Amino acid sequence: TTVLRQVDGYLQEYQTEKSRRKEIFSDLWCARPRDSGSIGTDEGLFEPPQSLSSSRAVVERILCQRSSQMRDQQRAWQESPDGRKILEFRSSLPAYKEKEAILSAISRNQVLIISGETGCGKTTQVPQFILESETELLRGAGCNIICTQPRRIAAISVSERVASERGEKLGETVGYKVRLEGMRGRDTHLLFCTTGILLRRLLDDKNLKGITHIIVDEIHERGINEDFLLVVLKDLLACKPELKLILMSATLDAELFSSYFNSASTMKIPGFTYPVRTHFLEDILEMSGYRLTPDNQFDDYGQERIWKMNKQMPRKRKSQLSSSVEDVLRAADFNYYSLQTRESLSCWNPDCIGFNLIEYILCNICEDERPGSILVFMIGWEDINALKEKLLTHPVLSDPNRVLLLMCHGSMDSLEQRLMFEEPEAGVRKIVLATNIAETSITINDIVFVIDCGKAKESSYDALNNTRCLLPTWISKVSVQQRKGRAGRVQPGECYHLYPRCVYDSFTEHQLPEILRMPLQSLCLQIKSLKLGSISEFLSRALQSPEILAVQNAIEYLKTIGALDKNENLTILGRQLTVLPMEPKLGKMLIFGVIFNCLDPILTIVAGLSVRDPFLTPLDKKDLAQAAKSQFSHDYSDHLAIVRAYDSWKDAEIDNAGHDYCWKNFLSPQSMKVIDALRVEFLSLLKDIGLVDGNMSSCNAWSYDMYLIRAAICYGLYPGICSVVHKDNSFSLKTMEDGKVLLHSNSVNARETTIPYPWLVFNEKIKVNSVFLRDSTAVPDSVVLLFGGRISKGDTDCHLKMSGGYLEFFVKPAVADMYQSIRKDLDKLIHSK
Ligand code: CDP
Ligand code: MG
Repeated sequence: TTVLRQVDGYLQEYQTEKSRRKEIFSDLWCARPRDSGSIGTDEGLFEPPQSLSSSRAVVERILCQRSSQMRDQQRAWQESPDGRKILEFRSSLPAYKEKEAILSAISRNQVLIISGETGCGKTTQVPQFILESETELLRGAGCNIICTQPRRIAAISVSERVASERGEKLGETVGYKVRLEGMRGRDTHLLFCTTGILLRRLLDDKNLKGITHIIVDEIHERGINEDFLLVVLKDLLACKPELKLILMSATLDAELFSSYFNSASTMKIPGFTYPVRTHFLEDILEMSGYRLTPDNQFDDYGQERIWKMNKQMPRKRKSQLSSSVEDVLRAADFNYYSLQTRESLSCWNPDCIGFNLIEYILCNICEDERPGSILVFMIGWEDINALKEKLLTHPVLSDPNRVLLLMCHGSMDSLEQRLMFEEPEAGVRKIVLATNIAETSITINDIVFVIDCGKAKESSYDALNNTRCLLPTWISKVSVQQRKGRAGRVQPGECYHLYPRCVYDSFTEHQLPEILRMPLQSLCLQIKSLKLGSISEFLSRALQSPEILAVQNAIEYLKTIGALDKNENLTILGRQLTVLPMEPKLGKMLIFGVIFNCLDPILTIVAGLSVRDPFLTPLDKKDLAQAAKSQFSHDYSDHLAIVRAYDSWKDAEIDNAGHDYCWKNFLSPQSMKVIDALRVEFLSLLKDIGLVDGNMSSCNAWSYDMYLIRAAICYGLYPGICSVVHKDNSFSLKTMEDGKVLLHSNSVNARETTIPYPWLVFNEKIKVNSVFLRDSTAVPDSVVLLFGGRISKGDTDCHLKMSGGYLEFFVKPAVADMYQSIRKDLDKLIHSK
């Protein structure tokens, strides 16, 4: 009895201690920003408490009991009818057959690379194997597994799936955490999160205390975050021998990763897919009755010809499959417009042949083919939407008794997700319109037919001109194989490629890793905030190092915006920017809005720049759309146009007329809603990190003081600035690096003949043939003097030098002194906040 009572006492004490620690731990899972209190204590989070160390053996026994309780629960679930069904499904997955081999490889190696075809069960099974394994569970006092996903939607949907496979609710053993959203509880031991979340977590705790296993999923995608994480983890593994790292890839070339981690072990999960028949464009056309004659064979048209055609913008309306080779080749080209940036694919034209072809194929399958769902790979959300609209006017495809039409993209809701994985009712054909998210990270079981448009949106970066490009580009051969493979999971399948074979032959083998084609500013900021030493040295240790010029540009930029000092150390402003989960320039704007009491419009601008262009411009109604937009554009500012549009929409929403309002004014209701939600999220974030206090009204004033808002925009966007030179009833623009630049035709400033101020600040310049600016705002000299360029003393009247990435104003000594002293005060104000 005495012993029992003693154990009871220990147990109670231990439980209290454990729940206290769990509380701290749940906070940690949240990946809170730096200074939010009780983080960083030196105690081990899952070790038995110090005070109980004398009775460690007892505590361990109790822990064992608990874990055996957990196992008992699992066993009970697996023996229930539902559980048995799921277990049967799980055991049928190729990964499950390798369970023992995987577990033994994990226990023998610190780093393991697992590759296996998409759908073989890597993401859903491997973390569960670890969770269920006795040996892994007993290492320390339980295991805590983090599994990273490149996309938030994948993290959520996979965690839901795994929880349901375990017969649990989400947030029990299995949880997820993505930006601004999460679900996890005290008993969570397996957390799916985006790679960004884990990187943020490293900010608080470099050693990832309490975490026993890290699984980095989808490494074949070579995202910038994953490449970055691998460098950090490589160092961490050296000083934390008990930490296990598992890398998972959907392609079978694991050698690159293996050699990066000192020839780490690799494992291939043998997969099985049914054969998939390939139809290229020529086959589809033949099927549709179009005959190729010897003089219009595709081989006559080399890649160059096709590229040339990509650049032209056919405006002719095509309502039917047409018979000329040129038109056929155009059908291959889903990108019917030249300058398409920041998702301005909103001018997608649903009448193009590509759409007609898809409709034709879908209709054929629905009417004649065996059962099985259809997956259509499109470029992005906009063309998915446009295609959906078109299909909904089709007599067969719009019939809900015959067709279940779903969209799969980054921002779908959970009902859509559920429907996507479920089998449709008998006699109903499921059609899923998807972005490349369905290529590897989401697997829909019953797909038999795949339609592949051959393109995806790819962003790239031109370091020489410091310019970003975001354009639909042809995918790689590896991606084509992935897309095709989706059709052969349950039975032999069919894959329709909407481009000719000769175009396929010209595809590159792999896509360039992101770190080589993206601006590196945010990455550099992260390196600094994680105290990882010199930026260049750190990046030189990456799997593939980015160009030196790209690194220098990023560092230079961060210095110019005041996030780094001249020794490349973080400034106070820089430290705040690392906490805000958005591009540094947008973070800067928010901070300005807080300090100068004009947060309301700034929140809208920052949210507006984080979503798709809210102004729609359908090709056939361009004039009407522009006229509608002009009512919001009195300020020579695209940013303020967003604010005005949002405010009017919000007013209409009060009377429940928001949707109508959007419809009449060519605004995207989805974008408006996202802006609305983001505003709330950003505001609560600012509150969380203490920049905004509880009394919102004092800091969230809506000020129509355009000077102030222009200043905020300039403060954020500088050195994105160009000078406006008027001549003969028009004006031209010049930036520091490029010389002459043009305005995107959608910009409100493109329709002006004069600009009342000598400067335009811009969000982004994009190179297509020339350099184009989107989203610009006119600003006066004084704003640039205070919040932009540098000020030096000159002997003559004010003149200006543009060099080395910044503007230098030379003004008379007295004026220079005045401005410099005001700037010092402003700097102090901003930094003290
Ligand atoms: O990661 P990997 O591509 O290897 O496969 P997975 O995501 O683990 O999926 C394994 C299997 O689980 C797939 O073949 C799907 O059939 C099934 N699954 C599902 O039915 N519903 C989900 N939400 C996720 C997966
Ligand atoms: Mg997966």
